[in-house]
Amino acid sequence: MKEKLEQIKAEALSQIEATGALEKLNEIRVTYLGKKGELTQVLKSMKDVAPEDRPKIGQMVNEARAAIEEKLEETRKRLAAKAREEQLKNEVIDVTLPAQKAQVGHRHPNTIALEEVERIFIGMGYEVVEGPEVEYDYYNFQALNIPEGHPARDEQDTFYINDKIVLRSQTSPVQVRTMEKQKPPIRIIAPGRVFRSDEVDATHSPSFHQIEGLVIDKNITFSDLKGTLDQFAKELFGEKTRVKFRPHHFPFTEPSAEVDVSCFKCGGKGCRFCKGSGWIEILGCGMVHPNVLRMSGIDPEEYTGFAFGVGLERIALLKYEIDDMRLLYENDERFLKQF
Ligand code: DAH
Repeated sequence: MKEKLEQIKAEALSQIEATGALEKLNEIRVTYLGKKGELTQVLKSMKDVAPEDRPKIGQMVNEARAAIEEKLEETRKRLAAKAREEQLKNEVIDVTLPAQKAQVGHRHPNTIALEEVERIFIGMGYEVVEGPEVEYDYYNFQALNIPEGHPARDEQDTFYINDKIVLRSQTSPVQVRTMEKQKPPIRIIAPGRVFRSDEVDATHSPSFHQIEGLVIDKNITFSDLKGTLDQFAKELFGEKTRVKFRPHHFPFTEPSAEVDVSCFKCGGKGCRFCKGSGWIEILGCGMVHPNVLRMSGIDPEEYTGFAFGVGLERIALLKYEIDDMRLLYENDERFLKQF
C-alpha cells in the first residue's frame, strides 16, 4: 500500500512537472484527485488495510494529496505567468508607426470671407444682426419704397410662398426691421441668405448671400458713407485700394451709387482680372430714402443715414480668385480644401 502511494505521488508530480500546457493541469488533477481518481481509489481500499495501519496510511494519503495540490498550484502559476509574458511579447504596439489622421474639415470660403467682413465692421463699432429668410412682401419691397407694380420688382423676381410672403430677394428688409425696433444711433451689418428666381451659371445662383449695412444717426452725410466704404475696401483688399462711386438708382436710397474698387491684381492699370478696366464693382449703396425712414418710424427731419449691400459670394470669388460661383456650392473637398 505504501509503495503504491509513493508511486502514485511520484507519477503525478512528474506528469505535472512535464506538462507545458495550462489546460493539461486540470486533466491531471482529475486523474489523481478526482472522485474516481487514483488517490481516491486508495482511500476506498482502506477496508483491506489492517485497522492499526489505517491512521498511518490515511496520513500518507493526505500528504500525497497535499503534495500534488501544491505542485499543481505552483505549476499553474508558473505556466500562467509564462503565457502572459508570451502574450505581451506578441502584442507589442509599435508606437513609432504613423497614426491614422482624423479628417478635420474647415471653414467654407464664404464663411472665411464673411468673418473677414464682420471683423472689419465690428472694429468700426457695428453690431451684427440677422433677419428672416422667409419674409413679408411688405419688408422685402413695400417698406423699401418698392410698391406693388414697381419695375424694380422685376429685377428681383423671387419665390412666392403666397401673396404676402416671399423668400427675401435681398437683405435690405433687415434695415426696416432694425429701424422699427431700435432708436438711433443705429450701426448694423446684417449678413444672410437671399433668393432670386435666376438660372444657375458662373455668376448666378437662385440662392446666395448678401451683407447689408445700415447707419442712422443725426448728421450722417454722404461723406460718412464714402469714408466708411473707403476704409472697408482698404482693409478687405489692401491698403493701396481706391474706391469709385458711380451714380446709380436704388428705390430705397437717394442719392444712390455703385462702388467699384481699383483692381487689386493690376493696381488699376487694366488686366484680365478686371477685364481691362482697372476697376471691379463690389457693392450698391446710398443715403437712406426719407420715405423708408418715415415708414420705419424715424423722422427724416431729425435723422439721416446711409446703407449698403454687398454680395458675399462676389467678395469670396474676388478675394480667392475663383472664376465660377458654382464651385462654392458643390461641396467638392478637393476645391474647398484650398482655402
Ligand atoms: N439690396 C440691393 C440689391 O440686392 C443692394 C443694395 C443697394 C443694398 C443699395 C443697399 C443699398 O442697402 O443702399 O441689389
